Amino acid sequence: MKKSLLFLIVVMLVVSFGFAKVYRVGTSAGFPPFEYVEKGEYVGFDMDLMREMAKEMDFEIEIIDMSFDSLIAGLVSGNLDIIAAGMTITDQRAKVVDFSDPYWTADQSISVKEDSDLTITVLFGDHNIGVQTGTTGDLWVEEHLEKTGILTGRYKRYDTFVLAMTDLVNGNLDAVVLDSPVADRFAKVRPVKTIGVIKSDEKYGLAVRKGNSKLLETINEGLKRLEENGTIDELIAKYF
Ligand code: ARG
Repeated sequence: MKKSLLFLIVVMLVVSFGFAKVYRVGTSAGFPPFEYVEKGEYVGFDMDLMREMAKEMDFEIEIIDMSFDSLIAGLVSGNLDIIAAGMTITDQRAKVVDFSDPYWTADQSISVKEDSDLTITVLFGDHNIGVQTGTTGDLWVEEHLEKTGILTGRYKRYDTFVLAMTDLVNGNLDAVVLDSPVADRFAKVRPVKTIGVIKSDEKYGLAVRKGNSKLLETINEGLKRLEENGTIDELIAKYF
């Protein structure tokens, strides 16, 4: 009896201290330089940030890739524990999830084909505009251009921004509205250019389920430590 009790205690200790908690991190890995796949691995600023944070705060992560507009549902339903997807902190989203302290600031860029002479008036009238479904760019175009009737052309949503950009390069779209750091980076490798910026001053945050304050605290502490020990600067140098 004594022996088995001792055994049970040892097992419990091993279980609680021996194995770090595994958190399922949801992302949408078509968003370089924040998250993308390279040689079959999830890489990018957010992915490294989560790996470094896991090391620092002593947990493990499993990365789960899905479409951007499924991430919040995945978190709410309990299939994910954390969202790390260049996700902008918005009031609407903050009603359903809890956001960490901000870790990035971005605006919305207006991209056109490299050889195009379109200006920002591309947002008006009979032009075709593409966005990534469910993103802040999508919401902005819908609210400010589509609903107001300013844009009368086709307004098209894509599963990934790369698909939208491909349609832009192929001449099926006149412009794409997308987060500025991602658009700028894309313009370096493909024949597109940024012709204007919508100053949205949005902040990216990591998200957890509403009320999961313990995990949120861990994440905020992790962000603070990675900021202080220079890891975040290293990741910026690596990816930007
Ligand atoms: N920041 C924008 C938003 O929150 C776009 C994020 C897209 N992220 C991604 N991994 N595809 O709506």
